[in-house]
Amino acid sequence: MTMRLVSAELVDSRQILPGQWVQSFHAPELAIGSRAGQFVHVRTGDYSGLVLRRPFSINTADPATGIISIHFRIVGKGTDWMARVREGERLDMLGPLGRPFEVDPRSRHLLLIAGGLGMAGIRMLADEAVRDGRQVTILFGALSATHVYPSSLLPDEAEYVVATDDGSLGHRGYVTDLVPDYEAWADQAFACGPHPMLARLADLAAGRRERMGVAKLGRKRGGGKADASGSTAARRKAFLQVSMEQTMGCAVGACLGCAVMGVDGPLRVCREGPVFAADEIAWQPRV
Ligand code: FES
Repeated sequence: MTMRLVSAELVDSRQILPGQWVQSFHAPELAIGSRAGQFVHVRTGDYSGLVLRRPFSINTADPATGIISIHFRIVGKGTDWMARVREGERLDMLGPLGRPFEVDPRSRHLLLIAGGLGMAGIRMLADEAVRDGRQVTILFGALSATHVYPSSLLPDEAEYVVATDDGSLGHRGYVTDLVPDYEAWADQAFACGPHPMLARLADLAAGRRERMGVAKLGRKRGGGKADASGSTAARRKAFLQVSMEQTMGCAVGACLGCAVMGVDGPLRVCREGPVFAADEIAWQPRV
């Protein structure tokens, strides 16, 4: 689907957690054809009249109603302005942008892992996976119980397991502590969250095949010919895909303001991402 510039009408705005909002917009052109992992670039303002643009993952998209939602935290002028927009007002949105998650058609069990606002990056994948008849487990990590994403906003079919740093809800510790319990169950994993969380998951994923004793017994894939790194085919075969959070400028690949270091050189989060196979990213900066 090609990207469009859309005038999206705010139809619902609610604070779901301290400082975190979910807003729903009527934008049928975006609700039809958007895929999990993609994002919109929203033109916001501030009260001095400055125009700002901010990227937001598409949180949900319902082609039947033409509604898409986004989930954000107030972190500055642009998002503060967003939270004050009234129902019935319209915002300019450019989208859908970026490359989506790629689920292997053979995968039956999907492990989704989110830290904090990273839920915004994987939320729509839960809907897609349930719709496609896959089993979904969502692992979620937050500082404390007051920051835990409400289970009522997730599909009933998904299993939801929580970790909090202070132990006030669920497992006490990091969400990454929970992953080893699921790595034999999961066919693929998809994550969004703070960089250290993603780096830890990439590390776990890299050792997974050996721990499970499948290093030599894995399915034969693609007749032995490796797919090019970053290609849709290679991503579809990756055990772990990550959605990278990054500040952006243009959001359409022109300014390099969103670059992260990949194993083969810089990657633009807005263009080559925001979703990457974990092994495309240089998690340890090379010296
Ligand atoms: S934000 Fe400009 S190249 Fe990605």
